[in-house]
Amino acid sequence: MLDRRTFLEQSALLSALGFLPRTISAEEYERDVARATPTPAFRGRPCVVSSANGIAGVKLAYDRIAGGTDTLDAIIGGVNLVELDPNDQSVGLGGLPNEDGVVQLDASCMHGPTRRAGAVGCLEDFATPSLVAKAVMDYTTHVLLVGKGAHRFATAMGFKPQDLLTDKSRQDWLRWKSRLSKTDNWLDHDDNVKINWTHGTINMNAVNAAGDVSSVTTTSGLAWKLDGRLGDSPIHGAGQYTDNDIGAAGSTGLGEINIKTCGGFLTVEGMRNGSTPEQAALKTLERMVHMTEPRLLDERGRPRYDIQVYALAKDGRFGAAGMYDGASFAVCDEKGPRLEKCAALFKASERPR
Ligand code: GLY
Repeated sequence: MLDRRTFLEQSALLSALGFLPRTISAEEYERDVARATPTPAFRGRPCVVSSANGIAGVKLAYDRIAGGTDTLDAIIGGVNLVELDPNDQSVGLGGLPNEDGVVQLDASCMHGPTRRAGAVGCLEDFATPSLVAKAVMDYTTHVLLVGKGAHRFATAMGFKPQDLLTDKSRQDWLRWKSRLSKTDNWLDHDDNVKINWTHGTINMNAVNAAGDVSSVTTTSGLAWKLDGRLGDSPIHGAGQYTDNDIGAAGSTGLGEINIKTCGGFLTVEGMRNGSTPEQAALKTLERMVHMTEPRLLDERGRPRYDIQVYALAKDGRFGAAGMYDGASFAVCDEKGPRLEKCAALFKASERPR
């Protein structure tokens, strides 16, 4: 949690970087934190949980939390590593583009102690949408900005635009485009080269020793999506959700299913109703299957898509689950950073061919 001094120092730093003044006063901020702060008797267990691609990020975030950094700032630092990694084609720089070859990014975050939230969708040209989402939270009365408005906001806040399409992702896009139809004007090439495809994402959730919880999710979304498509990642209650009294949850995988299920919210509600984090994640997956249209199910009702759900309780318990076994997730606590196996609804051998 930010104390007044750290908050004022950070505000001064952001001002020095050219950011606009904060729209709430330090007094208002402290009042909100005080309202949501657990009793001093609370003995929490710091823990950071994320999708497997956050293995380096969970360590960075955990170390920052141990050093007193606010949980949301810490996990945004963690996901920034992945957003800025050109080799992760599911997030930020190097993310696979939409059908027009344009990289459009989505991100959202929630800060438990102040019960604040921010998000951006269809954001072009800025590699760290998680930071822009947090700026929406910190500097506006809104919770979600999209498209051109999000771009103008990021520019106004001083974020630096850049070309997000790497040569690797451009090649994958051109291969995908050339193989779409035998009758269009694009000649197929490199037929034997596998095209990367992803609806991957990074979700990260954290709790500190005071029991303060935050969550963030950031993604380039579904590869080759239609221009303007928003996935679950910028939607609070779907791609991620935090209730500081209970914990946080988020997910990676096919966003359309998660939006219909409100997966982040449902998982936190599951924990509120007594489920362990892993049980809550599994129940959310069951609901996702229930909410799936027939074209995405095989004849036995098995989903033709993947989703993983990650859950973290306020007391530091954690768990994750995927549709099919074999998935893993990243965690860092007092035992250090590691990958653990996700629980699963179905065996990998039951996956539709
Ligand atoms: N979960 C990422 C997406 O579907 O956009």
